Amino acid sequence: MRAFAPGRVNLIGEHTDYNGGLALPFAIAEGVTVCGRTRAEPRILARALDLGEEDEFALADGARPAAGDTPTAGWRAFVRGVAAELGAADVALPGAELVIGGEIPRGAGLSSSAAMAVALGLALLGLADAELDRRALARLCSRVENEWVGARTGLLDQLASLFGAADTALLIDFSTLELSPVPLLLTSGWRLATVDSGERRELAGSLYNERRAECARACELLGVDSLREARREDLAGLPEPLGRRALHVLDENVRVRATVAALRSDDLAQVGDLLNASHASLRENYDSSTPAVERTVGHLRDAGAAGARMMGGGFGGSVLALLAPDMPLPSGAHPVRPSRGALLVRSLETSSDY
Ligand code: GLA
Repeated sequence: MRAFAPGRVNLIGEHTDYNGGLALPFAIAEGVTVCGRTRAEPRILARALDLGEEDEFALADGARPAAGDTPTAGWRAFVRGVAAELGAADVALPGAELVIGGEIPRGAGLSSSAAMAVALGLALLGLADAELDRRALARLCSRVENEWVGARTGLLDQLASLFGAADTALLIDFSTLELSPVPLLLTSGWRLATVDSGERRELAGSLYNERRAECARACELLGVDSLREARREDLAGLPEPLGRRALHVLDENVRVRATVAALRSDDLAQVGDLLNASHASLRENYDSSTPAVERTVGHLRDAGAAGARMMGGGFGGSVLALLAPDMPLPSGAHPVRPSRGALLVRSLETSSDY
């Protein structure tokens, strides 16, 4: 049994997911693979290949980690969290051996953690011979990030990993969880590439949670359930920096729609301008840029990128660049293109899986 879940690139629509807004991510070719097989003992043994570490814990009554098996930091929290949340969703987990490997750099803003949670979820569901609707699995994996890992992230990364498809970006409306495929063919030599700013910030310990709390406070003051419902003319009444945070969210939703329209009319130069505008707003209104990110964006623009912006939670991580035809790949840039979403391969459990 083998499960693969890709990382993601978010073309545009940043910090909109937990605000009931719009985003336009796609799944990338790189991801996390979990190979699993059942074992007679009601315990889970997991190995993280890249780290050379392992973890083992009991499944009390064949379903949940035994009392006292509290989550630990790092990758172990994901394994224990996904197992426990599946147990809580009435999935009867068998004992299992899991091997986790992947090719997404951790902390680079390409959602290695969501990919790991999704791959673990699919692998454990496969071993339990159980099914779960993909939106429900996305929510379950997000709960693991929120409650077991401590990062108050939204659903962007999990939905992109689970619903991504080749040559397709996904327009996600987080107020309804409606997903609409938008062709992203990158024809005539246009390319997208990521460049690592080299700066690492753990979402759980970062200003990300603070931004989320600021948006919640802005909603309280405006008397709305989510910033999606906020009216532009009411923002002036918000204290600083809440007004700027809300303005970013409202403008970013508009930019997502404009990007979809530009892609539909094959106007990639316009997409580049929208990426640049998104970055400016993330820097000026959301205060989520850093000197290392600014240097990376500056380097890409100087090299002639049609657009470049910070991506994901911010405060470090990767920068996304849109490169016009004939532009050479800047140093350190890694080309990305929309690729298949997560999948489970139910094959014979042979040791060759490992
Ligand atoms: C991180 C989170 C997502 C989303 C982005 C910002 O990637 O995991 O839920 O909030 O930041 O758009």
